[in-house]
Amino acid sequence: MTLTIEIEPLSDVMGVAVRGVDLSKPVDVSTQEMLFELFVKHLVLCFPEQRLSAADQLRFANFFGRGDGGDRVKRRDKNKRRTGERGMMYVSNIRENGKLIGVLPDGEMMFHSDGAHRPSPYRATTLYGIKIPSHGGDTLFANLYKAYEALPSQTKKRIENLITRVVYDYEAVDRAHTIAANPVLPRAHHSLVKSHPDTKKKTLYLSRLMTQDIVDLPAEEGEELLLELFDQCEKPEFVYTHKWKVGDLLIWDNRCTNHARTDFPPEEERMLRRFTVSEPDAPVES
Ligand code: OGA
Ligand code: MN
Repeated sequence: MTLTIEIEPLSDVMGVAVRGVDLSKPVDVSTQEMLFELFVKHLVLCFPEQRLSAADQLRFANFFGRGDGGDRVKRRDKNKRRTGERGMMYVSNIRENGKLIGVLPDGEMMFHSDGAHRPSPYRATTLYGIKIPSHGGDTLFANLYKAYEALPSQTKKRIENLITRVVYDYEAVDRAHTIAANPVLPRAHHSLVKSHPDTKKKTLYLSRLMTQDIVDLPAEEGEELLLELFDQCEKPEFVYTHKWKVGDLLIWDNRCTNHARTDFPPEEERMLRRFTVSEPDAPVES
């Protein structure tokens, strides 16, 4: 049997919708490789109208790297720093007996890249729409290749070898919280400009929610540069807005995109299932 896979752009900025493949069934290796190529080329893939169990979604995640199966467990390491195992979770505001069934429950979220506070961030994230509010709760994606390319050559030179410190503070809702993040939280150092391992193209790697500072620059100078670059990354011409439908399965490349979320009515239920994709050699914890 041959599949007739159809692709259609989601926007001029990036992303394609992929139709003609039923991900609740096993997919042959050449199709898996083709999907990986589409992912590298288009940064965001949307597979509409899928009906997927958690096992189906994990099988899909494994086409793109090491799908993070198992249950997510939050722990503290010997220095009382927060760590966690990589695994499945729900992104949801639903409460059962007063307890949240998932994470990232309510409202707006600033731009970020998943796992950037870890030495080996998630290569990709998969998110499957189960309950979607009547409006809002859109996920915004920023193309960081384009944000980099559009910089003046002087700025490109200035930032070429800079290193940032990245933190994820669960309570951070604005920049002030990120800058003053709790010292027990894990941090990672990353190059501000990275070369994407698959495309070899240069991309910015920073975000308003997670990049704390630039290690090589005095605080004030670094913060000024960061604010300028955050604005650059968030310019509307580099952003695609995804309006969710139930049954959408999305995968995005965390190595060259940031994402954010718009506000949505708190009285409406929102629920998505999330599996991350790690680099094959990433440690399971941290
Ligand atoms: C995530 C995330 C955004 C959303 O799952 O990492 O940022 O739209 N989700 O819920
Ligand atoms: Mn995220």
